[in-house]
Amino acid sequence: MIEFRVNGNVQQVDVEGDTPLLWVLRDVIALTGTKFGCGMGLCGACTVQLNGQPIRACITPVSAITGQEITTIEGLGSIKDIHPVQQAWIDENVPQCGYCQSGQIMSASALLAQNPNPSDDEIKQYMSGNICRCGTYPRIQKAIKRAAKSLQTTGFAVHIQESNFDLATEVQS
Ligand code: FES
Ligand code: FES
Repeated sequence: MIEFRVNGNVQQVDVEGDTPLLWVLRDVIALTGTKFGCGMGLCGACTVQLNGQPIRACITPVSAITGQEITTIEGLGSIKDIHPVQQAWIDENVPQCGYCQSGQIMSASALLAQNPNPSDDEIKQYMSGNICRCGTYPRIQKAIKRAAKSLQTTGFAVHIQESNFDLATEVQS
């Protein structure tokens, strides 16, 4: 049995230690917001945060995260208490097909936690491991800038007042 925390909740999973974290998240814990892309650590679709640092869940054996804290897109914010990065993604209409976007958001939120006011070059460099086949990079860049401003003025307490945007459905489809 391997124990760790996901989005603040303790999870115990009965799997082989070399099982990729991505399989555990999607198939055992049913957190399907994290996506499978290349399966080789190359595209960033499976990005989650380990103690706040972005990692590739497809190449991380679950045994490596024993006793540690994983955050997935489902744990970043909620409809009632949305994370500023998620709000910026909505405001800038970033997604196209959407497949890469949970990984993009998990990297972007980790970036802003470390560097609250990144330059364009710093954003490009940090986000370079997250591939978007739809080419949404300019909107991602704008959304990160917007989120940085929002975080500086409002912190994390940003709420959607009136929105029928179903983020959970969007990221899990
Ligand atoms: S699916 Fe993990 S990096 Fe591509
Ligand atoms: S929005 Fe389609 S791959 Fe990024």
